[in-house]
Amino acid sequence: MQLLDGVLVSAHIKEQIKQEVKDWQAGGGKQPHLAAILVGNNPASEAYVGSKVKHCEELGFGSTLLRFEKDITEAFLISEVERLNNDDTIDGILVQLPLPDHISGDSVINAISPGKDVDGFHPISLGKMLLGQPTFLPATPYGIMLMLEYYKINTTGMHCVIIGRSNIVGTPMTILMSRASNPGNATVTMCHSKTKNLKEITLTADIIIAAIGRPKYVTADMVKPGAIIIDVGINRIDDATKKSGSRLVGDVDFDSVAPLCSYITPVPKGVGLMTICGLMKNTLLAAKKAKELIG
Ligand code: GUN
Repeated sequence: MQLLDGVLVSAHIKEQIKQEVKDWQAGGGKQPHLAAILVGNNPASEAYVGSKVKHCEELGFGSTLLRFEKDITEAFLISEVERLNNDDTIDGILVQLPLPDHISGDSVINAISPGKDVDGFHPISLGKMLLGQPTFLPATPYGIMLMLEYYKINTTGMHCVIIGRSNIVGTPMTILMSRASNPGNATVTMCHSKTKNLKEITLTADIIIAAIGRPKYVTADMVKPGAIIIDVGINRIDDATKKSGSRLVGDVDFDSVAPLCSYITPVPKGVGLMTICGLMKNTLLAAKKAKELIG
C-alpha cells in the first residue's frame, strides 16, 4: 500500500504556484486577490476559511475575509457578492458553504460573476466543465485529479465507483473521471445513500472515491484487494484519548482498508490539502483573466 500524501503533493504544487505568481508580477501582472465570505460561526467553516486565507498569504496572494452574522438577509448577501463582482481589485470570490437555512445557496452562487467563480460552483462553470470547455473546476474534484496526476496513476479503463452525489464533489467527479483524458477514461458508477447493493458494486471497483460524509462508512469487506481509495470525508468523532476530546476521520475506515489497497489518501493530510491547491490554482487563473473563462 502506498499513501497518497497530501502534504507532499500540495507542497509541490504550492511551490509551482508561488513561482508563477512571482513571474506574473515580475511581468507587470497584478497580485491575485481572493475574497472569502463566511456567514455565521460554524466551527468547521471557520477552520476551512481560515486555512484558505492563510494559504493566500503563504503563496503571495492578497485576501479579503468578509464575515457576516448568521441572521443577515439573502438580499444583503447577494448585494455584497455584487459589490465584489464590480471591484476590479478582487479576482476570485468564494462563499463558504453551507449557508444558514433561510438563505438560498443557489441564489447566492448564481450571483457570483462566472469570471470570479474560483470555487467552480456557478452553473456556467459546471456547464462548461460538463462540456469539456476551459473553466474553473470545482476545487475538491480538481485537487483529486491533481493528486492522481502527480502519482502518475493511469485510470484508463478502470471501474471508478463514486459514493456521494453532492454538487461540489460527487457529481462533478463523475464527469472528470469519465472524460477522455488521463486521469479520466474510467467507467464510472455513481452510488449514494439510496443505492441498494452498494457493497456488491464497490467490490468491483478499481478506484473508490468516498464523498458521502459518514465517518468510516467504507469498510474492508467493501473493497477489492489492490483498489485505489480516495477519501474525501472530513468527519469529527469523539475520542476520549485526545486532549480536545475528538479527532478527524474520513469516510473510509482507514485502519482496516489500508492494508488491502494499492493506494489510499489519509484523513487529515490527504484530499483536504488538495482542495486548497485547486482553489489557489483557480484564483491565479482568474487573476490572469484567461478570456475564455469570463462570462
Ligand atoms: N463547503 C465544503 N466544501 C467547500 C468548498 O470547497 N468551497 C466552499 N465554498 N464551501 C465548501
